[in-house]
Amino acid sequence: MKSLYKYINGSIGRWNSRTPKASNRKGTEQMQDKTKETKQKIIARYETESTGCCALGCGNTMDFLEIMPGEDILDLGCGRGEETLDAARQTGPSGMAMGLDLTTAMVEKARQNARDTEVQNAGFVQGDIEFLPFKSECFDGVTSNCVINHASDKARVYREIHRVLRKGGRFVVADAVTKVPLPQKIKDDPEAWAQCFGGAITEAEYLEAIQSAGFDEIIILNRREYMKNDIDFISLTIKALK
Ligand SMILES: C[S@@+](CC[C@H](N)C(=O)[O-])C[C@H]1O[C@@H](n2cnc3c(N)ncnc32)[C@H](O)[C@@H]1O
Repeated sequence: MKSLYKYINGSIGRWNSRTPKASNRKGTEQMQDKTKETKQKIIARYETESTGCCALGCGNTMDFLEIMPGEDILDLGCGRGEETLDAARQTGPSGMAMGLDLTTAMVEKARQNARDTEVQNAGFVQGDIEFLPFKSECFDGVTSNCVINHASDKARVYREIHRVLRKGGRFVVADAVTKVPLPQKIKDDPEAWAQCFGGAITEAEYLEAIQSAGFDEIIILNRREYMKNDIDFISLTIKALK
């Protein structure tokens, strides 16, 4: 198996790494408090979900990733690691799959699942999708299933995906977006963010975030409309090449 350390940058678990200017400090501190509270709610939800068995994704990214033997695949917000392990099986012993998740209990569960299924070419690390602890240009494919809606800066996540992909690499992401902007009350509710809807932005804003990260040709592979708490949502499955 390839050494997982080959991919690691030595910055696992970094959250708010920038130092704010004095004039902006109060606003920034308030924002950081809010971000912290939101992340705590997200972690609390998924600590519980780590022992469950119901599916947590909102699309079928693995149907579209078209993994070739020998490839290196990254699964962002891997949860219990089912899709990471699937990717590891597809890429075979000459490749590897890496799962990253914010929640300790999820990473532990994913590692346990890897041991139980005897998949040898998968690794799991704890980290934040906004600050990927990986070297640049070390993955052929990135996948993520219903995770990026939890991030406060979606464009930053896509810049990180762009950074870690090799030239010619691709991502396939499934995520929840809205038809119209969410009411401010929902946007301000950390519990709503943890439940996969408070952090959702409109489809147009989402595609703009991807484009601003440097991905030119964005393909919508699947589009499923649904209602959640009386709000129109769309589950999008998206692919783009670097
Ligand atoms: C809806 S679940 C999806 C899990 C998995 N992708 C699946 O389809 O089963 C969202 C996962 O994203 C993780 N997560 C949420 N915010 C994250 C972040 N900022 N960085 C890394 N993982 C995050 C959660 O811990 C959780 O395991």
